[in-house]
Amino acid sequence: MASNASVKRALLLVDIDGTLLRVHRHVTRHVWSETWSVVVGGELPWHRLDSAAGKTDLQILAQLLGDVYTARVLARDFFSVLASHAERAITRDAIELCPGATDFLEAAERSGAVLAILSGNETRIGWHKLRVAGLDSYFVAGFFGGDAIERAELPPRALQWAMSQQYLSQGAWVIVVGDTPNDIACARRYGLGCLAVASGPYSFDELTVHQPMACFRHLGQAALSLHRFLPTHPMARQPIIAIDGPAGSGKTTTARLLAERLGFTYIDTGAMYRALTLAALEHGVPMNDEALAALLERTSIELRHTPQGQRTYLDGRDVTERIRMPDVTAHVSQVSSFPSVRAAMVRIQQQLGARGGVVMDGRDIGTAVFPDADVKVYMTADLATRAERRLEELRATDPTLTLDDVIRQLDERDQLDSSREHNPLRRAEDAIVIDTTNLSIEEQVERIARYIRERVVESSTTLP
Ligand code: DC
Repeated sequence: MASNASVKRALLLVDIDGTLLRVHRHVTRHVWSETWSVVVGGELPWHRLDSAAGKTDLQILAQLLGDVYTARVLARDFFSVLASHAERAITRDAIELCPGATDFLEAAERSGAVLAILSGNETRIGWHKLRVAGLDSYFVAGFFGGDAIERAELPPRALQWAMSQQYLSQGAWVIVVGDTPNDIACARRYGLGCLAVASGPYSFDELTVHQPMACFRHLGQAALSLHRFLPTHPMARQPIIAIDGPAGSGKTTTARLLAERLGFTYIDTGAMYRALTLAALEHGVPMNDEALAALLERTSIELRHTPQGQRTYLDGRDVTERIRMPDVTAHVSQVSSFPSVRAAMVRIQQQLGARGGVVMDGRDIGTAVFPDADVKVYMTADLATRAERRLEELRATDPTLTLDDVIRQLDERDQLDSSREHNPLRRAEDAIVIDTTNLSIEEQVERIARYIRERVVESSTTLP
């Protein structure tokens, strides 16, 4: 591969098992047992091995033999037989790709990163697994653990190679991608970055404790955030996810959960219009464009992110619950219909989302606030279903409310929101429509998350 000392590069050192793929356990056990009976003799003492995760193959052999010296002496013969067995037994059926593995490698490759393997596997076995899984062609080099008694021996080899290729000159970023605390420890020891993925035996929380640079549930999620970590990525910012739709379509809950899942910031633009409406009601400001725009200028509306979720502050006061009360709901469509109010709100929302990494919900996000959003979703549901959902929420504050009342209110608000002159509620042409009438919240989130994965990874191909 050509190297160029003047180009700032990123080098990703990617682990295999638990990160990119999983080999069925019984197949791995079978391969090791057979090899053991041929090379060492007798039953393989599995009880001596606490866990194989994050270990090198030589380290595993040493643990099984109970002695490092013997392991080193036996290694050549043992791994030669082991690799032959592995090449026969590890077929495509014995391998499961980790979710998002291909998306991640494609995104990394497009972003200009150099990919190499950093794995505890013995060399032949590591390449065999990658080849069978169809992933070998992404990697220009590999650093393996058939002759390393611990994982920490591997990064210096990778770094030495990177230096010889001049990837390290000009301050290239080197990032380890792995699924175990050992991967993280290894990276930290050499001052390298580490992206951890919870697709192996360790959970998200167990990995986070070891303080990787970032932790993801799986590589598909990491693919979305790659540009945060790679100086070479063509996207200047993180994705913007725009979610629009009528009241009660499930936008708010879905957007919040989606943001949590992606590690993005959630911005509820309806809450901003609601806060302004509350300020107008409290100060007796007349409901006209000029008066409301002037009020917005002297009012502070903040969306604060707290451990209890997003809270809305009006002039420093927490109004999160207050803005959901019927008096605010009854006036908010009117307040949000005025052009100067809308123009000012859109400007604020554009600033809030400018750096990306946001899920923003509202009525005009995909059409007016971020017409170039990376992903646009339009959520709908039939009126009766939306009204039932809303009634459920509102019952606590107003037990006298009936389904007919809510249907009437929602219908009226839909009419106002979609018939106003400035930035009415409408589906952006390039938005996908998700009808949530018969979907659970989990299904809504999953569907959008899947779409985002496809869409963002796909769209980065069209960038320069
Ligand atoms: O999503 P919500 O019900 O909290 O929104 C309250 C109102 O605010 C909604 O009826 C219309 C208005 N709104 C808007 O006009 N544009 C947005 N981007 C968000 C909300």
